[in-house]
Amino acid sequence: MTRSIRTLLPLAAILGACALTVQAQTPLPEPTALVDQQHCMFCHTPGAPFLAPSFHQIAEHYRKLPDANVMLEQKLRIGGRAHWGNTSMRLPEERGGPLSPEDAHTLVIWVMSH
Ligand code: HEC
Repeated sequence: MTRSIRTLLPLAAILGACALTVQAQTPLPEPTALVDQQHCMFCHTPGAPFLAPSFHQIAEHYRKLPDANVMLEQKLRIGGRAHWGNTSMRLPEERGGPLSPEDAHTLVIWVMSH
């Protein structure tokens, strides 16, 4: 048992690395229940700016910034200053309900994969 785990670990690492390389072009599967509950697509689209920056723009903009994910998770949960134009995003309460740290994390990872 221990032995098979040891052989699987490097394999998992390789698969993980591949997933990271592909990430830039292929968005992760949409966490649909969360996205619907929070109405993300009411204002955002994956590729074209609409009422809000597109997820692709956001991902491009923050890809190279360290700690951007942490900032974005905070922003999704508790709001903050607008970074695109001067309309800030609605708070979770106005979007569909409170957002847990885990759910905010899932959403940010997904947005950043665009
Ligand atoms: C009511 C419209 C609306 C909804 C719903 C909405 N957004 Fe936004 N979002 C915006 C606007 C407007 C901005 C640009 C505001 C800004 O400059 O921070 C924005 C910005 C963002 C940003 C970038 C924030 C920054 O600081 O640069 C992320 C990430 C984001 N949205 C993700 C989401 C996700 C994920 C959801 C669903 C949970 C969602 N948005 C739902 C309107 C919306």
